[in-house]
Amino acid sequence: FSLKRYNTFGLDAKARYFFEFTEAEDLPYFLSNFGLWQQLPLYFLGGGSNLLLVDDFEGLMIHANLPGIKLLREDRNHVWLEAGAGEDWDGFVAYCVSQGYGGVENLSLIPGRVGSAPVQNIGAYGVEVQDVVELVKGFDLQTFSEYEIPDSECRFAYRDSIFKNELKGRFVVTSVVFRLDKFPTFKLNYGDLMAEVEKRGGESLLNVREAVVAIRESKLPDPEAMGNAGSFFKNPVVEAGVAETLRAASPDMPVYPAGEGKAKLAAGWLIDQCGWKGYREGDAGVHQKQALVLVNYGQATGREVYQLAQKVRQSVADRFGILLEPEVNVLGAE
Ligand code: EPU
Repeated sequence: FSLKRYNTFGLDAKARYFFEFTEAEDLPYFLSNFGLWQQLPLYFLGGGSNLLLVDDFEGLMIHANLPGIKLLREDRNHVWLEAGAGEDWDGFVAYCVSQGYGGVENLSLIPGRVGSAPVQNIGAYGVEVQDVVELVKGFDLQTFSEYEIPDSECRFAYRDSIFKNELKGRFVVTSVVFRLDKFPTFKLNYGDLMAEVEKRGGESLLNVREAVVAIRESKLPDPEAMGNAGSFFKNPVVEAGVAETLRAASPDMPVYPAGEGKAKLAAGWLIDQCGWKGYREGDAGVHQKQALVLVNYGQATGREVYQLAQKVRQSVADRFGILLEPEVNVLGAE
């Protein structure tokens, strides 16, 4: 089964087995009739927007393509919406903005599906999806039953959650319940977001959405036009002392707070300093406007992109002593 249309890098890799379902009951039904799944590597695919397929996948891919957005309840200040795992993330954001519900507007234009948002704890411009997730619903393959995991048990952290750790490979997200604000408070202190919002006439959900879209479009390649999976590496979190030492040598290095005694560095800056921005090797490259984004100019293979990532990683390690960790899911490397 070709995965070319199912990954935003546009890689022409294959999955041995692929199961897509549009109704939650179909998953246990399928698995009961396909006993082989218990011996196969599993991968739960959303929009494929955070995936590098280094090789063909010799296992079973499960694609929860469940639609629907419904209003569960509301009180004076909040609404609770349940969205199916298969809903397009940005479509969900657009819907919230159009209804006047605040909380996800900073997460505009992030590629992918609703079901992957809590797995990754997607984040941008000072907001993470954990700020609005109330409950994650899904099916646990190990116990063969449905579960609801409340926000407090999701173990959300920077680009991380229980779904990438303890529940990895066993919990298929089927829907997510969000708690949104009827009287939004705006978070505009990341980078030039405030200035972009002012330009559009000041604080409103729509202006924030449009400002975020404009900033993203100016830096990040549209996966429809050029294969990519957004940031390839995570921004590394290091001991505060390490950040201080690096900053003494490079006073313009961006450093963000990351809790007691820690600091977060900008991986894009580190890669940029090593001279990679705009580098191209065959059809694999480092994006011209954002060094943290690796791109496929057309015919690159997953292995070529992976090899480029390894070189980038090595050079950052040699120059700064920092080992970058992938932010994308790398499937098939050794
Ligand atoms: N920078 C450079 N050169 C570059 C890229 C970045 O000097 O080539 C510098 C920038 O000037 C800035 C700093 O590095 O001072 C951070 O750059 P930016 O604001 O573009 O954000 P980022 O840290 O590279 C993170 C997320 C993005 C998210 C943006 C905005 C991660 C791994 N990435 O990127 O998320 O959109 O912040 O909040 O945390 C994604 O996860 O796929 C993603 C795109």
